[in-house]
Amino acid sequence: MEIRGKRLRLLIKEEDIRRRVEELAGEISSSFSWDEPPVVVALLKGAFIFASDLVRAFKRPVIVDFMRVSSYGHSTESSGNIRILKDIETDIEGKEVLLVDDILDTGLTMKEIYEFLKMKKPKVLKTCVLLDKKERRRVDFEADFVGFEVPDRFLVGYGLDWGELGRNLRDIYYVED
Ligand code: IMP
Ligand code: MG
Repeated sequence: MEIRGKRLRLLIKEEDIRRRVEELAGEISSSFSWDEPPVVVALLKGAFIFASDLVRAFKRPVIVDFMRVSSYGHSTESSGNIRILKDIETDIEGKEVLLVDDILDTGLTMKEIYEFLKMKKPKVLKTCVLLDKKERRRVDFEADFVGFEVPDRFLVGYGLDWGELGRNLRDIYYVED
């Protein structure tokens, strides 16, 4: 597989993702009280595939909502200022909320969105990412649920893009240097 002349190397197979997403859904499901339906908040665009598989692995009804954020400046030198392009539409006050993203890199995005959602006074706010590039972390933030720890490589597929291409790939690849 290639994107713009760069080779993609397989990192995580579709079948392994599927199995891990099922496991995560089980762990997350047991952590919810289910007193009322939890709200799953997915970050667009990267988390759209992961979130759609994750919510379908829950055996009870949940509410799904989305946020779209963009970081000011260039993503590789994240300033820590993120801009909210689309907020959630659900009132999450007093609710159990799960914030979902594709990948935790520097941690700036998840930390800021976590604090933003906290101000809306949810009863519980938990976080889940499919992938975690631990060695890239620049702020003190860890997700409650992590699918896979991954190496510091640029990853594509299963929602993750390289210049907007490759989100539709079923497996996760790294871009070869
Ligand atoms: P953070 O704020 O540095 O943690 O960045 C998180 C965001 O950067 C994710 O939501 C992704 O959109 C993007 N990102 C980080 N690493 C990758 C990657 O390897 N491939 C594609 N997108 C990435
Ligand atoms: Mg993203």
